[in-house]
Amino acid sequence: MDCIQIQGGCPLRGEVRIQGSKNAVLPILAACVLVPGVTVLKNCPDISDVACMCQLLRHVGARVDKQRDALIVDASAITSCHLPAEYVTRMRSSVILAGAMLGRCREIHLYYPGGCVIGDRPIDMHISALEQMGVQFTEEDGGLRARAVSLCGTKIDLPFPSVGATENVLLAAVLARGVTKICGCATEPEIVALCRFLQGAGARIGGVGTDCLTVEGVPRLSESCCLVEADRIVAGTYLLGVLSAGGDVFLRSALPGQLESVLQVARRMGAQISACRDGIRVERKGLLASPAEIRTAVYPGFPTDLQSPMLVALSQAQGACKLTETIFNGRLRMVGELNRMGAGIRVTGDSAYVCGPQKLIGCRVSARELRGGAALVLAGLCAQGSTEVSNRQFIDRGYEDIVRDLRDLGANIGVKT
Ligand code: UD1
Repeated sequence: MDCIQIQGGCPLRGEVRIQGSKNAVLPILAACVLVPGVTVLKNCPDISDVACMCQLLRHVGARVDKQRDALIVDASAITSCHLPAEYVTRMRSSVILAGAMLGRCREIHLYYPGGCVIGDRPIDMHISALEQMGVQFTEEDGGLRARAVSLCGTKIDLPFPSVGATENVLLAAVLARGVTKICGCATEPEIVALCRFLQGAGARIGGVGTDCLTVEGVPRLSESCCLVEADRIVAGTYLLGVLSAGGDVFLRSALPGQLESVLQVARRMGAQISACRDGIRVERKGLLASPAEIRTAVYPGFPTDLQSPMLVALSQAQGACKLTETIFNGRLRMVGELNRMGAGIRVTGDSAYVCGPQKLIGCRVSARELRGGAALVLAGLCAQGSTEVSNRQFIDRGYEDIVRDLRDLGANIGVKT
């Protein structure tokens, strides 16, 4: 299995184009099932999670073709409502197909979804919300069968603004009978992107961008085309790479409005940030100062997906910081690997205490999940000597080519087979 090898000590300089967003394109791909025709999605990231979703779509009968960075999905015919365990268990987002398949066929059989090992990831909110719309779930063959004789709009109060549950209800609601009101829903940019896509295909959705969406069911969606926006988490990872290793980088296509909480922290630490319509420029000169405290939170708060890369940046800044994870209880597990490199981070409950600057020393570390794996690569950039990050496949789930991007920015990085 490939591993990533980094020789630390080179600051990042130059320009990198930010790929299309993983968390936006996955639910939009699932939504293609609702369209009895062709959908064209441009600027799709070339990552393994997208490949996995395409396989799932093919399995249910859709035709998926790739033309450069575009995916062309023809879901004129849906021939199966069974999702094979092989793909479902590989990727958390497979659960989003439940809402879409229920909308289209009123039935789906799936296994419990997989995805990153970052703590408990139940799907109770998805199930409860869909049940309120008339879906019946039964355990079958080690998986779940969901059926709805009739899918009906209703008022759903989500107990927590879950991104996935919001997407699932939205997808089930667009072709349901009557009006669905989703209160307490997630407001992440990926939800807005999904709403815009659905609206473009003819769905009637009100309250887009707020925590209360109103969906008026329509009889059918029509063919459409959509441009996937830049990935805010990839942009944030590279921005935190500059805060960690130093340098001056332009993140082309990055959307500053979606990264406000991260830019605020970076500015407070002393980084130079300038944002424009085409992207974000980030520059670090000398040592940064740690903020006293950071808490991850739902949007527009500090994203949990950038918590691990942030730990690396904090380990290179002056002063002490308490970073608290409030979304996924297993995300601090990767601290063990950072500490093997000398980060000296102490974890108590859901909080990590970082006191920098720490001298990191390159060694062999192992990626266990997507964002934690990317953070280990950033740690390699600022470590003394050579770092080898194994299990690259986790990182490839969400980054098109982290090695290419960082090498283009001047890092001494390569792949060892
Ligand atoms: C999505 C993102 C992921 C991001 C996360 C939070 C995708 C493909 N993934 O994941 O990158 O880290 O949002 O921004 O878009 N929960 C329950 N029951 C449920 C559903 C969720 O208890 O039925 C809990 C989860 O365990 C977690 C919290 O709610 O503690 C947030 O989960 P959720 O917002 O659903 O995240 P995902 O959609 O899985």
